[in-house]
Amino acid sequence: MTKRKIAVLVLAAGAGTRMKSTRAKVLHPLAGRPMIAHVLASAEGLKPDRIVAVVGEDMEDVAEAVRPHPVAVQHPKLGTAHAVRAARKALAGCTGPGSAVLVLYGDTPLIRTATLKAMLAKLRSPAKPAVVVLGFRPADPAQYGRLVVGSDGRLERIVEARDASAAERRIPLCNAGAMAFDGKALFGLLAGIGRANAKREYYLTDAVAVARARGRSCAVVEAGETEVMGVNARAELALAERAIQRDLRARAMAEGATLIDPETVWFSFDTRLGRDVTVGPNVVFGPGVTVGDEAEIRGFCHVQGATIERGAIVGPFARLRPGARIGPGAHVGNFVEIKNAVLDEGAKANHLAYVGDARVGARANIGAGTITCNYDGFAKHETEIGEGAFIGSNTALVAPVRIGDRAVIGAGSTIAKDVAADALAVTRAEQREIKNWTRRRAKASRRSARARATRKAR
Ligand code: UD1
Ligand code: MG
Repeated sequence: MTKRKIAVLVLAAGAGTRMKSTRAKVLHPLAGRPMIAHVLASAEGLKPDRIVAVVGEDMEDVAEAVRPHPVAVQHPKLGTAHAVRAARKALAGCTGPGSAVLVLYGDTPLIRTATLKAMLAKLRSPAKPAVVVLGFRPADPAQYGRLVVGSDGRLERIVEARDASAAERRIPLCNAGAMAFDGKALFGLLAGIGRANAKREYYLTDAVAVARARGRSCAVVEAGETEVMGVNARAELALAERAIQRDLRARAMAEGATLIDPETVWFSFDTRLGRDVTVGPNVVFGPGVTVGDEAEIRGFCHVQGATIERGAIVGPFARLRPGARIGPGAHVGNFVEIKNAVLDEGAKANHLAYVGDARVGARANIGAGTITCNYDGFAKHETEIGEGAFIGSNTALVAPVRIGDRAVIGAGSTIAKDVAADALAVTRAEQREIKNWTRRRAKASRRSARARATRKAR
């Protein structure tokens, strides 16, 4: 038996005018990745045979974002059915007997794999519907297409709000947008769709009426309103972000992390926290962060592209940038920025430092105000600090430079040459002391005041 193929189309050719943006709507980020990447991830959860995005012309940036999945270009844009037709070639080989084609919208980012699976299961149920529509019951159905269900409980057609009668507009069950098709029937149904409607567009939703007229049944699967929320404007983008964050926070806690004030912690889609991790208030996780068991991230940290290992303590007020790796039990304190640098086990940078393009050996101590001067205006250079080394406060380490194991750097030094293991290096100017300087200065100042007074009297 040949495998029953599954293909997913993600429609993303719409202009997204209401975002008032030069960026394509589906590229606006949610939880650290473009909106359309969330849709693709849910689709990938089905392990489909193919995923194709439908984009408009001049949408190279969207094509880039959906790679390695291919795109089909729709031009001009004549409606959702027309968009699916534009993907006909891209779906070649995926529309045989028993195949399924799911059509999703790139601007409906919260849709879950489980819902898509339920739609496919319905499509393969004994009634063998030609179309399965994802329905929902919004608090305000205003602009959504209405699902017209017959007295036999079966879906008859979908009527767009602007084409609906007053009675149809009172129907609470609406079209969320996602539709699953019997792949073999899909393009035949599309061929039966005209554009005699308010927008003069080819509506994908008309596939239902066409299928019914041809004696096929159609069915509905229902989802919750939040899951099918569409993002058309910035305010909706913020609502979607909030919904995603709510899920990510719940997941982090379910997996064994303590969030002291969950509402103030911001995650990325891929943030990974181990067990017994504690996260203080107002922490922001950019993409690419992994935190090991028992680590603590104190309040007001910004962490991105970083690995924090078991038992490390970060913050409060620390910034970890891409390539930071904080080893087991290491400490990074307030106002410390770490970029592309490794702190080995037990190393400490507790206050006010910049450590970039560096390797800090186990148990080394980086004093307050230490700066790795990694950039000379042209290129970046590396700093190596040996195990157990001690870098005194307010030291500038001019890279490329190596500090040997257990070496000590005197506070206030500017180190531009390598320092041997176990050595002390200090570049500070010698301290001078002038005896009784204050007293002599006071005397001199009294003398000149008297001279001024005499001049005035004359
Ligand atoms: C559509 C549905 C409506 C449903 C609503 C849910 C139709 C005719 N109507 O309406 O029943 O309640 O979504 O949000 O389908 N797109 C293209 N090419 C086009 C037109 C649209 O790729 O030519 C894409 C858009 O980028 C978007 C999606 O298709 O991702 C939906 O298009 P949109 O114009 O938002 O449809 P609605 O009018 O909202
Ligand atoms: Mg829409």
